[in-house]
Amino acid sequence: MAPSLEKTIYVGAFVHSKSLQELEICQMGAIGVDENGTIAFVERYVTDEAPRKKDGWESAKIVKVGENGFFFPGFIDTHIHASQYPNAGIFGKSTLLDWLNTYTFPLESSLSSLARAKQVYNRVVSRTLSHGTTTAAYYATVHVASTNLLADICLEKGQRAFVGRVCMNTLSPDYYRDASIEDGIRDSKASIDYIQQIDPNAELVAPIITPRFAPSCTSECLRALGDLHRETGVHCQTHISENKPEVALVKELFPESKSYADVYYAAGLLTPKMILAHAVHLTEEEVALIKACGAKISHCPASNTALTSGCAKVRELIESGITVGLGTDVSGGFSPSVLEMARQAIWVSRFVAMNDGDQAKLSTEEVLYLATRGGAKVVGLEEKVGGFEVGMDWDAQMIGLGAVPDGGESNLEADDPVDIFGWESWDDRVAKWVYNGNDKSTVAVWVKGRLVHQTSRYER
Ligand code: GUN
Ligand code: FE
Repeated sequence: MAPSLEKTIYVGAFVHSKSLQELEICQMGAIGVDENGTIAFVERYVTDEAPRKKDGWESAKIVKVGENGFFFPGFIDTHIHASQYPNAGIFGKSTLLDWLNTYTFPLESSLSSLARAKQVYNRVVSRTLSHGTTTAAYYATVHVASTNLLADICLEKGQRAFVGRVCMNTLSPDYYRDASIEDGIRDSKASIDYIQQIDPNAELVAPIITPRFAPSCTSECLRALGDLHRETGVHCQTHISENKPEVALVKELFPESKSYADVYYAAGLLTPKMILAHAVHLTEEEVALIKACGAKISHCPASNTALTSGCAKVRELIESGITVGLGTDVSGGFSPSVLEMARQAIWVSRFVAMNDGDQAKLSTEEVLYLATRGGAKVVGLEEKVGGFEVGMDWDAQMIGLGAVPDGGESNLEADDPVDIFGWESWDDRVAKWVYNGNDKSTVAVWVKGRLVHQTSRYER
């Protein structure tokens, strides 16, 4: 049972997505959150005295957002390797397959040490929370104990998370893979059982079946994981069509399959509960298959650029009817910030537009949708998180932007990186945040009503 919270009314401006193209910007609102962390009411155009006028809310706590700030839904990172966080920014000029061998497998393998796993996982959960990530779909490593520790840490720090033990029985070095398919399935079940036992109603933390990607699993291994998926109903995550040599390798390793997507389909893994990361080089047939199966896609723009994997055609994916969210893909991606991914998604769409035309460009509104409502759909939590609606959980961040005083002099160290002069429209303020904001702009963060991160600017 979650601890009972103080009934709270969040007062001031709030911003969230109404649709892919449209943000709702309410300049003076009041959002009531009950003892369970659930949104009980959302009021717009409130006067100063109004918030506590509602029956039963007279003694509620009031949390006000500052003049240049707003409440925004927590971000959803639909693809992040918690185990790779120490390597964020370390990739040199590598591309996917040599990057895995040079940087990634050695680091992940070292997390067999629980002391090291504790150090890495405590830090990555705190860090992502500080960037406003209230939900994350994490890859851990093959190790059961350290994977379970990651789930413990998410629960303790209050981050909503899907935590996956990485499954692989080939490709990686002998020192870092499952000893056999049976061992892998046993370990995956052990981790699923543990995570379901620490949070039986999946209020915050849930397991996720995690075949690394087709080249690191034999077809028997993938089929066994597909069976586990069907038997348990647990979510799944993997990588698909990230770079061209990888696609060629899949063709070579799975000659009986029509395509990369077909490898997962044949294993029973292409379902509405599957999150596919990257999807850069999909064929039209694969897009149609993924759509027909209802699988979801995590767009990882920073990683795709860092490892020169390519530019995913996000507009085409969305128009085909596939659900898309954003993923940091740390440490293929260099940043743990979903706000940075929103920006990167806009940039990458510009490069697609240079070939495919202007319609490929993503707008600020669209990437904020992908970062919140889109991500929520990707992880199957769209009824609970991603927006401010009655009945949803209060997974939110308080954004505080900087106020430039008359004369322009100010304390740069204490202020937010976004300079608001006071004459900007609300649309422009949000755009300035998307392009220049960072974790300093995220003053406080709540998950399910619980305050899980705050900076010194909170309640200052
Ligand atoms: N494909 C297989 N493993 C990985 C990984 O750890 N990161 C990325 N970006 N792609 C992968
Ligand atoms: Fe990845």
